[in-house]
Amino acid sequence: LNATGFRNEPLRDFARQSDRERMAQAVASVRKMFGRRYGAQVAYRELPATETLPSLNPAAPDEVVGEVGMASLRDTEEALQAASQAQQSWATTPVEERARLVLAVAEAMRRRRDELAAWMVWEVGKTWREADGDVCEAIDFCEYYAREAMELERPERLGRLPGELNELMYVPRGVSAVIAPWNFPLAILTGMTMAAAVTGNAVIMKPAEQSSVIAAQLMNLCNEVGFPPGVIGFLPGRGEVVGEALVTDARVHTVAFTGSMEVGLQIVEKAAKMAPGQAHVKHVVCEMGGKNAIIVDADADLDEAVTGVVHSAFGFQGQKCSACSRVIVHQSCYEAFKERLVEAVKSVLLGPPAEPGTKIGPVVDAQAKASIERYIALGRDEGRVLVQREVPESQGYYVGPTVIEGITPEHRLAQEEIFGPVLALMKAESFDQALAMANSTRFALTGGVYSRSPSNIARARREFAVGNLYINRGITGALVYRNPFGGFKLSGAGTKAGGPDYLLHFMNPRVVVENT
Ligand code: NAD
Ligand code: ALA
Repeated sequence: LNATGFRNEPLRDFARQSDRERMAQAVASVRKMFGRRYGAQVAYRELPATETLPSLNPAAPDEVVGEVGMASLRDTEEALQAASQAQQSWATTPVEERARLVLAVAEAMRRRRDELAAWMVWEVGKTWREADGDVCEAIDFCEYYAREAMELERPERLGRLPGELNELMYVPRGVSAVIAPWNFPLAILTGMTMAAAVTGNAVIMKPAEQSSVIAAQLMNLCNEVGFPPGVIGFLPGRGEVVGEALVTDARVHTVAFTGSMEVGLQIVEKAAKMAPGQAHVKHVVCEMGGKNAIIVDADADLDEAVTGVVHSAFGFQGQKCSACSRVIVHQSCYEAFKERLVEAVKSVLLGPPAEPGTKIGPVVDAQAKASIERYIALGRDEGRVLVQREVPESQGYYVGPTVIEGITPEHRLAQEEIFGPVLALMKAESFDQALAMANSTRFALTGGVYSRSPSNIARARREFAVGNLYINRGITGALVYRNPFGGFKLSGAGTKAGGPDYLLHFMNPRVVVENT
């Protein structure tokens, strides 16, 4: 096994009847499993909960997808004890065995991929296509990290001087806490968890409140493949309670966090404080938000640009960290682009994500809907709403895709992550100005350029300050191995999920020098 043999898991083709039927069946059968209870799990024991919260279907919030037992501080203590006990023997378990279990998770996901996708359709409102992509990415993380871990395990010989053997090797850091967001509820949780586990660290998963039922499916898969007791723990619960307790505990060596900038910065600060009895510096893998821009240059192919922008801005209702939330258009093609963009937004199919043809569904919860609507109201003051789509008549948390023009870099709509289907349209006088505008936020996650000019493309390559830059294509949907993903500035600490250096975050480097 090695990384060059890795292949991305192919997406389902819902134009094919067989793929469509399988998914429709899974969507229907998962619905029959609504209302079950899920709770914290430690070493194959389900912990009783004193408080449960319903996880709702965002398209029909009177439907309870599952009841989630909120983990308590006592549960957190149990999970930490179990992980600490398991750590030593897991760290010395041969990498082949650790990789075998991680690959077994991938295999189990393949067997249940429509069902896993269906849980995402129901619990977070992903369309079929988006949900399928999420499962494929989760499989990819398992396959890729298992291969990478095997390669990393072999000591590397440095220098070739006679009489001296220098070896660089990597060893597990210790217990890892994984704190995950809801927007890639399977992929990101799986990626962080399997990266930590395959490199020899016991892991405690703290999923996002909004996607705990999907997270529980991952925990069940881990149980099914038979990780040793204590190696993978599961603590659904409140971020400020369970998340914070994990971040501040002396037994945790690595915190792998993906989520908002606000929470990420708090975690960095809290993890930097030494807890009583702690004898190591905690490492925080911190992947946060974005305010991503696509530049449309004067000579861009406008048909391609409109398609890429609409897909990047409104796919999964704009709730991707990679989503396009600003489109910066050269003045010479501004009117033509604007006209086509508005027409395209008006024609996207909005509706319940359980329906196969739906392109845009509801946002994740009532709080998200209220927050996005506040930004749209603000956009009416800061700029001019060009289009705001009517939403389906339903109690679902729908927000109509919205485009607002007249936004300039000083506006809050140009600076703050909205995390919803709201796109700011900005006009630039030149490519220079467009680049300056694109770079004028605190974030540096994704960015894109549509241009036919080799010199402008070359400039963007050098000067567009983002972790993932896309030229003449959309800016979402990074693939494991081919497009390692992650940003810098306040989008993250420069880590790249799905890339060759990601696993190093969970390991300590050692060098052994021997006179021979
Ligand atoms: P969030 O920050 O609200 O929550 C993320 C996780 O942190 C959840 O599990 C939550 O319970 C936990 N948490 C909350 N408060 C905490 C605390 N005080 N201590 C410890 N943990 C705490 O983010 P979200 O709403 O779940 O996800 C959306 C955000 O994630 C967006 O900002 C998006 O851009 C970002 N995101 C970034 C990436 C990336 O790769 N850079 C990928 C996906 C999502
Ligand atoms: N990795 C995800 C994307 O690129 C966030 O869209």
